[in-house]
Amino acid sequence: MSAASGRLALLLSGRGSNLGAFLRAQAAGELQGSVEVVISNRPEAAGLKIAQDAGIATAVVDHTQYETREAFDEVLAQKIDGFKPDVVVLAGFMRILTATFVDRFRGQLINIHPSLLPKYRGLNTHQRALDAGEREGGATVHFVTADLDEGPGILQTPVPIVPGDTAASLASRVLPFEHKLYPHAANLLLTGQVSLKAQGAVWGDEILPPGGRLWRPNSC
Ligand code: GRF
Repeated sequence: MSAASGRLALLLSGRGSNLGAFLRAQAAGELQGSVEVVISNRPEAAGLKIAQDAGIATAVVDHTQYETREAFDEVLAQKIDGFKPDVVVLAGFMRILTATFVDRFRGQLINIHPSLLPKYRGLNTHQRALDAGEREGGATVHFVTADLDEGPGILQTPVPIVPGDTAASLASRVLPFEHKLYPHAANLLLTGQVSLKAQGAVWGDEILPPGGRLWRPNSC
């Protein structure tokens, strides 16, 4: 796969392992674009250092400095717009975004959630999957809409649950799958294969199911 010229902005709040996956894909010529900026709402986020070490622009929009969600989102949106991204990637970005913000980036804004959506929206997904006796967990990349984790799915990958799994062991087994899944799903937007329409996420002529299309990486 040759590198294309799409521009990505990546938003994070924490350790940045998914950012690392995007950068590895980019270095390997497997990302149809380049990460132009990494923005965090937390000045101490470890992901900022990963970006800086890779020579990528970083910015902090510290949510504690804004009185309202609207004010924070407006500054965040302006910061993103300055980099003119084609796709805005939420990678462990732990802020709920306003409908105004989400509408501004409609069809360009994607998130990864560590469950097989529409199951287990919200937090503690792995524990909830274990408590429910599920045989598999997984991760989903989806368009972001104003409802938390409810935007149309693009791509999801299942990960088997094994006897003795804890939330921590399952999370650490799902993570490498996230790292394959997320750049691959972003490529579908960057190349225009998948887009957000009124009916949902559309891939060619197909309206995707709520969780998106099932996908398994060749290796993990
Ligand atoms: C990932 O588990 C992702 O699914 C969730 O937040 C976590 C981010 O991890 N949305 P990292 O910061 O990319 O390592």
